[in-house]
Amino acid sequence: MITIRQAHPDDSEVLAHIAKHTFRETFATKKNLTDMELHCAKSFGTEIQRQEILDPNCATILVEVKDQLVAFAQVRLHSPKACVAADHPSELHRLYVSKEWHGRGVAHKLMSKILSTASDAGADHIWLGVWEHNPRAIAFYGKYGFRVVGEHIFQFGSDPQRDLVMMAEINESFIA
Ligand SMILES: CC(C)(COP(=O)(O)OP(=O)(O)OC[C@H]1O[C@@H](n2cnc3c(N)ncnc32)[C@H](O)[C@@H]1OP(=O)(O)O)[C@@H](O)C(=O)NCCC(=O)NCCS
Repeated sequence: MITIRQAHPDDSEVLAHIAKHTFRETFATKKNLTDMELHCAKSFGTEIQRQEILDPNCATILVEVKDQLVAFAQVRLHSPKACVAADHPSELHRLYVSKEWHGRGVAHKLMSKILSTASDAGADHIWLGVWEHNPRAIAFYGKYGFRVVGEHIFQFGSDPQRDLVMMAEINESFIA
């Protein structure tokens, strides 16, 4: 049984845990240990995620299976960006599904909720930054009409990485 809900400040600790775990699971290599530590220290921790949950411009969405947190997403409801031609753009800031749930439909249920959350906040488009060497995520976003409209630097520890900026019109047909 899958439950999708908005996060509450009481979820901060478990959110920090899954955020760090899924980030490492996705991007850790033997060569990037120091940058990974720097990035995780800066980005993940109970108080950091608590502030994100409390931020009125950030919707944090959790997916639970049998009370276990298996995925989450964060949407910056109003997030203009130069290369994003939209009147009311939202940003998909983070989308992470635990590895054992990849390819099993969890990400699609979560994307439906992401799009409805952005739409309810008045967004007409949604954009995101994705690492240029993350083909699975790029293929997933393509299914929702995301197209590359620019690029930016994602500072990963001491390593400036190239992110593709992708954008999609919010399409009601993807909302359950
Ligand atoms: C990105 C993510 C949310 C997608 O969820 P998912 O359940 O894996 O998505 P799906 O399996 O439905 O779709 C991924 C598609 O990429 C394809 N794919 C897998 N590996 C691929 C590769 N190396 N190159 C290209 N396409 C690939 C899959 O086959 C699938 O397409 P298909 O359904 O036509 O077969 C999930 O993989 C995830 O959380 N990844 C780790 C975190 C992450 O990268 N987040 C995004 C940060 S911007």
